[in-house]
Amino acid sequence: MGLYSTVMEAVAAYTGLSPAAFFTILAMMVVMYKIVCGMFVDPENHGASASKAVDLAASFRPPAEPVQLGNVTEEQLRSYDGSDPTKPLLMAIKGQIYDVSPGRMFYGPGGPYAMFAGRDASRALALMSFDPKDLTGNMEGLNESELEVLQDWEYKFMEKYVKVGQLAPIPNQIYNAEPKVKSSQPVMAVGDQHDQ
Ligand code: HEM
Repeated sequence: MGLYSTVMEAVAAYTGLSPAAFFTILAMMVVMYKIVCGMFVDPENHGASASKAVDLAASFRPPAEPVQLGNVTEEQLRSYDGSDPTKPLLMAIKGQIYDVSPGRMFYGPGGPYAMFAGRDASRALALMSFDPKDLTGNMEGLNESELEVLQDWEYKFMEKYVKVGQLAPIPNQIYNAEPKVKSSQPVMAVGDQHDQ
């Protein structure tokens, strides 16, 4: 406890910022660093750049899998986490699966949001959390504002990425809890079809 308050006081004394502001800025810098680093070749691996180019070529090859997957289990979804460069990168929100391959920089191996690939990340997105225990589609207990945050993410994904399937519903798992909708945008429930 003594160490904790000494660190907090030192942060305030040296930076002139509140500890909350300091750690928020620090977290933002780490994410930006990871994004920027992901754009460049590691000098250590410079010699391996030729094989890396081959890997990159492989990753841009059209996916061998069918584009529309229909109903998929969580276990099947895991295999679309970027570890196999011949497969598209998939991610689910509220049980709806999107092809996020165009966002490889975010979700591909080494990307800042790689942990979301191959998963339903609804809970993590609603809570803006990177905690592995929140990497689940279970939305039980989320409050109204958290569900609204998630709804905004869903609209972003619907707009930016192609929907390729849905997770086979798990008994007793809440996928389609909805906040009270203020906008005129339609609300999708699991299994609803919408235009790509
Ligand atoms: C700590 C502060 C954070 C910073 C500085 C940050 C920064 C960014 C930036 C610069 C982008 C790219 C935006 C774009 O070009 O469209 C982005 C995208 C994204 N962020 Fe963050 N982020 C932060 C925290 C988080 C958190 C906590 C989450 C969720 C747990 C999150 C989830 C995402 C997702 C999913 C995308 C990608 C959206 C897409 O596919 O276009 N971010 N973030």
